Amino acid sequence: MSLAAAAFYLKNKENLRSNREETMRSAGTIAGTIALGFALGVGLGPSSAARAEVTIAISCSSLGQEQELCRSGAEAWAQQTGNRVELISTPADANERLSLYQTLLAAGSPDVDVFQIDVIWPGSLASHFVDLGDHIPAEALQDHFDQLLANNTVEDQLVAVPWFVDAGLLYYREDLLEKHGRAVPKTWQELTETAKAVLEAERAAGASELQGFVWQGRAYEGLTCNALEWIASQGGGGIVDADGRVTIDNEQAVSALDLAQSWIGSISPRGILNYAEEDARGAFQSGRALFMRNWPYAWALANADDSPVKGKVGVAALPAGEGGKPAATLGGQQLAVSRYSAHPEEAADLVRYLTGYEEQKRRALEGSFNPTRRSLYDDEALLAANPFYGTFLDILESAVARPSTVTGRRYNQLSSEFVRAVHATLSGNGTAAENLTALGRALERLSRGGRW
Ligand code: GLC
Repeated sequence: MSLAAAAFYLKNKENLRSNREETMRSAGTIAGTIALGFALGVGLGPSSAARAEVTIAISCSSLGQEQELCRSGAEAWAQQTGNRVELISTPADANERLSLYQTLLAAGSPDVDVFQIDVIWPGSLASHFVDLGDHIPAEALQDHFDQLLANNTVEDQLVAVPWFVDAGLLYYREDLLEKHGRAVPKTWQELTETAKAVLEAERAAGASELQGFVWQGRAYEGLTCNALEWIASQGGGGIVDADGRVTIDNEQAVSALDLAQSWIGSISPRGILNYAEEDARGAFQSGRALFMRNWPYAWALANADDSPVKGKVGVAALPAGEGGKPAATLGGQQLAVSRYSAHPEEAADLVRYLTGYEEQKRRALEGSFNPTRRSLYDDEALLAANPFYGTFLDILESAVARPSTVTGRRYNQLSSEFVRAVHATLSGNGTAAENLTALGRALERLSRGGRW
């Protein structure tokens, strides 16, 4: 992304800043009183790190309710500490967001203090972030899943704190499965057959708009997540293994892609080749799809009061390949503090607050963003709000991570090559076997003999 394009997002920030000032003026006195409290030395617990009022700019993604919940969380911190926050809206598309961040960070820009980063980015962006282990008390960190803390630790530095964890889920229309006497599919083959049978019956009865299965088929990071699920759940591995050896050119991967290719124009619309998360959710939530693969955030929205499918939706682990085990791709977001921030202490305090128990609970209740803190999985209120909380820990246990740790800085290139091969196959541009053989060779070259 060019600096000029990056400036667009920062300009957006200016607008938000003035909106924020408006809000501050109207909310007025509470923040003012708290700020005065600080001036008088009346600290509010750990947040007394904030000495004089500063403005912290935070960039959040915009998938579903992300912007909204990020704003309300950051504003609550601002009110508590007497500081200000600015929200920088960034694209929901992971590739576009990474490219914006790379541009800002390469320029050493102090315009963003706190970055929301994807679980796959610590390895490639680490050098631009402060070690949060130096800024956030150990007690505030110990409840997070160890795997996530390990994922975010690069050369002994904690470059980001886990914020929410994602894993691919299967959403289905309970009412339609029941009407047609069908069970929730346990294998991809079964999903294919059920979708075909229900579509045939429903379309014959006039539901011409209905689709069988919607997912993320656009050529971007989301397709890496979907294709990895088909392949890993079929026993085809994780593109490269834990030692960095390229494993993608194998028969199970070929048969997983062959099956997915058969969905296009059959149980999935041709337009799926350009679908990201929100396109799939749009189709499913408006009642135009039987099955959907998506992240947990779609649960709260599908069951919101204004959702046409409210109360008709079920959620389950993704299907497995024949003879395989379900494998949800591990996703999720972290918060990092820029090395170029003028206020690293306050920025780290905002990260501590947003990743804390209460805020993660609020986000889980309001937006079904899954906590990264173990103790929240025993919380009664959360268990009641979210039927898949009970099983989410099992889903996480069998989740498959993208190979971003072993490939470090080269992960993004690997993912782009993978997406290219998968998207070509789905589009009918070469067979799965041909495209995966070519991909295997390209990744071998990129991996420099497994050293990456
Ligand atoms: C979600 C996940 C993230 C993944 C992205 C792909 O935002 O949290 O890990 O890379 O979707 O679209």
